[in-house]
Amino acid sequence: MAVEQMIVTVMEAVANNSLVWTDLDIELKAYAKEHHVPIIVDEGLALLEQIIRISKPKHILEIGTAIGYSAIRMARVCGSQITTIERNHEMVEIAKNTIQRSGYEKQIRLIECDALEAFDFVKDTSFDLIFIDAAKAQYQKFFELYTPLLSTHGIVVSDNMSFHGLVNTQDYEAQSRSVRGLIRKLAGYQEYLLKNLNYDTTIFELGDGVAISVKKD
Ligand SMILES: C[S@@+](CC[C@H](N)C(=O)[O-])C[C@H]1O[C@@H](n2cnc3c(N)ncnc32)[C@H](O)[C@@H]1O
Repeated sequence: MAVEQMIVTVMEAVANNSLVWTDLDIELKAYAKEHHVPIIVDEGLALLEQIIRISKPKHILEIGTAIGYSAIRMARVCGSQITTIERNHEMVEIAKNTIQRSGYEKQIRLIECDALEAFDFVKDTSFDLIFIDAAKAQYQKFFELYTPLLSTHGIVVSDNMSFHGLVNTQDYEAQSRSVRGLIRKLAGYQEYLLKNLNYDTTIFELGDGVAISVKKD
């Protein structure tokens, strides 16, 4: 499918909000809300799932598991194998349990490690899609570390590019020093993606801002 057609199809899916919820999804969303665990928002998820439906990745790498919500959702779309990396032990314990309960435990490999130190665990695998959803200040490092494992025409999906609407905002000066640092990092990452000649990148202003980068030949 041509990239332009893919974008139209993807946008239609997001506009129609094609999401279907299981009881476990609803429970995980409620848990995330109650315990302030950041998980992908519905619009971003609709976009991610439609990209998976179109591109049918055999193997997906996720950086940032949290409670396993997006890993389970991605596993359900079309049978992809998921490798997901999480550094927070408490999150890992919760994710183990939810993945077990989801019935997708054979499809999802959960690695407890800082993603910047986990390369050796995954280096023998070729990934068709990489979903980056972890520490915002490290996005470029994740991209540089893991894209050598991306297959031809592979896709990188980076979430939170708008960071609650704060990236490229007029309100920059009003933010705390640490938030300004994150905003600068994310803005720098956006520029890095858009200037990267090896990838075609589109940044969607939906959900929390999602960048889709498609590897060129
Ligand atoms: C936004 S949450 C992930 C949400 C999940 N993808 C979802 O939508 O259901 C980010 C997670 O990344 C983890 N994380 C942050 N930096 C990391 C790193 N360097 N390595 C591994 N995990 C990291 C955090 O502990 C947190 O649980």
